[in-house]
Amino acid sequence: MKITTITSLALLTSPPKTLAKQLKKAINKYKQGKQQQALNALLELNQQIPNNIDILHLLGYILIQAEMYKQASDFLLAAYSLQPKNAIVCFNLGRALFFLGKYKDAITPFKVTCNTFANNLDCRKFLAVSYQNLDHLHEAYQTFSEINKIQPSKEISVNISLCFERMNITEYDEKVADELTCLYALEYVDSNNLQRLTSILLAQKYQSFTFNTSLSLIQLNDDKLLLAMLSASAVLIPRLEPWLTTIRQKLLYDFQDNNGDSRYTALLVAMAKQSFFNDFIFYADIDEQHKVELIKQQFQKKFSFEKLLYLSLYQRIKIDSEQIETTNDIPDSLRTWWQLIYHNSIVEHGLAKKVELLTKINEKTSLKVKAQYEQHPYPTWQRLPYIAKRNLNQDLDIHLGHSPKFSLKSGRKIDVLIAGCGTGKQPLNLAQNYPDTNIIAVDLSLTSLAYAQRQANKLGIKNIKFMQADIQDLALIKQRFHLIECCGVLHHMADPFIGWRQLTKLLAPKGIMKIALYSQLARNEITELRSYITNHNITSTDDSIRAFRHKLINNQLPIKLNNYIDTGDLMATSSCRDLFFHVQEHQLTIPWIKQSLQKLGLSFCGFDLTKVKQEFQNKFSQLNQQPNAIRDLDLWESFEQHYPATFTNMYHFYCESIS
Ligand SMILES: C[S@@+](CC[C@H](N)C(=O)[O-])C[C@H]1O[C@@H](n2cnc3c(N)ncnc32)[C@H](O)[C@@H]1O
Repeated sequence: MKITTITSLALLTSPPKTLAKQLKKAINKYKQGKQQQALNALLELNQQIPNNIDILHLLGYILIQAEMYKQASDFLLAAYSLQPKNAIVCFNLGRALFFLGKYKDAITPFKVTCNTFANNLDCRKFLAVSYQNLDHLHEAYQTFSEINKIQPSKEISVNISLCFERMNITEYDEKVADELTCLYALEYVDSNNLQRLTSILLAQKYQSFTFNTSLSLIQLNDDKLLLAMLSASAVLIPRLEPWLTTIRQKLLYDFQDNNGDSRYTALLVAMAKQSFFNDFIFYADIDEQHKVELIKQQFQKKFSFEKLLYLSLYQRIKIDSEQIETTNDIPDSLRTWWQLIYHNSIVEHGLAKKVELLTKINEKTSLKVKAQYEQHPYPTWQRLPYIAKRNLNQDLDIHLGHSPKFSLKSGRKIDVLIAGCGTGKQPLNLAQNYPDTNIIAVDLSLTSLAYAQRQANKLGIKNIKFMQADIQDLALIKQRFHLIECCGVLHHMADPFIGWRQLTKLLAPKGIMKIALYSQLARNEITELRSYITNHNITSTDDSIRAFRHKLINNQLPIKLNNYIDTGDLMATSSCRDLFFHVQEHQLTIPWIKQSLQKLGLSFCGFDLTKVKQEFQNKFSQLNQQPNAIRDLDLWESFEQHYPATFTNMYHFYCESIS
């Protein structure tokens, strides 16, 4: 399909000869870079010949390019009143209004242009984003969808997923269900954005998840949307859990050993993937456990793919290398599941052997923490959502409120250290968004590093070197970094300040740090639960984590969870372990951060949480009158005392080396 482009620097009418000549002269001046001369000539013509559509339109166009949107919109509105159906005038008027934030007013002119130039993508994008900014999400989604039909792109699919993230729907819509199913299949779309709307559609289709007799496994086995959601990543919507748990139970009770040829293979495979993503967090009752045990005994006597699949709904079954070699016999319908659960782990095993050791790991706390993350790497993740490539220097400028002060030799990339990179999502995100970086990512846990390396290989990201190291000994290395990120790590060390001091030594002059730390105030309820766990000798095996969580979400514990109930951390065993059962946890306060920054010679550059910043600005508006209030840690301290849940998602902030 041919894409139409809109040429604004051309005449819309056939004016008299002399005027045409004068207009073309002004256009040429503009093209030669003499914007002011072109503008003056057109302003003069406008005085002499008022209400001429070409003069008004060219003035509007040039003023948009000069980012003078108010003046541009005045001229373009005058042109529009002369010819309201002129598609080019409408496009430029729409743009001027759009840049002024007048999205509602921009819609009518954009629609005129879209009707005339059905294959113009620019105008449709402006229209879609106008709808999006007005929260008209249904219209935004439909417009993005039209663009995708003309020219599919990652950017547009991601935009549709962002519409779906907040869109509501009152009755089951087949078209939306199909669109969601397609989006789940795209690895670069964040499947978490799709789950809320998916759950709304499924609730409509399955009568609010009542498990009536008419609901059959056959129907679920054919439900492409359900299968797509289960196969993409851990489901984070709590209301789906009882329904999914019942589906799993029904599947188990239907167990028949047909050696890989069940009636419900698609559903079994999707459910087994889901159980793997959430590390088998769903609760199983005694009957189910008994049935699983029986299948396990049969499996131990005789290997069968089908039994393995059923068992994989409930637990991770280790198989020996001989059995792995049976891969060639695996039925096609089970291949993606096999790949996810067994093939990836074999690959990671191989990658772990190749990870370089940068420092020894022998400190007591580090060994304890390492053991936890070897067993439960965190976070386990499946997809890296696409974001258009950006410039790190420019983005740091926005975060810090000023340009980075470190000096970078021309042609050199920004050196970044990710300290405590876990399973790699943090460095891979950075590497994908900012290709102009050289990244070293370190962690204690080999299992986590191997997971990260496998994901990097899959994504073809090459500017990261993953290494095993203890942050406490990192200052021994010679390299210095322009940016160091350490998120969710320092509070798991023996002494967070010592870890932070080691990292500060690795900063290049005027280097920048991004830190994330637990807030004592926000984690009040977690502290109570951690005490409960200690006092009741609850161990951190998978079974006891599952049992504890089951009681917690069913309100069978004396302590309730409020702030953390919707964070998604309850939806997998590894994240529950991280949240409640960590072997080493410190909680910090804003005064502690302030004091540490002073001791380390770092200046605070502001919190990196848009929502939190907005709340601070809205609720503390009188205090905000003072310049730089947003970077005043004393004000933030009193804000947090007023609103203790502010930093549920940790204190995320930037700081900068003073020297
Ligand atoms: C909660 S995870 C966070 C991972 C990652 N920063 C993220 O935000 O996704 C904490 C990670 O810090 C690592 N870690 C803890 N103490 C460390 C130390 N002393 N040196 C290196 N890594 C450490 C752990 O192994 C674990 O993978």
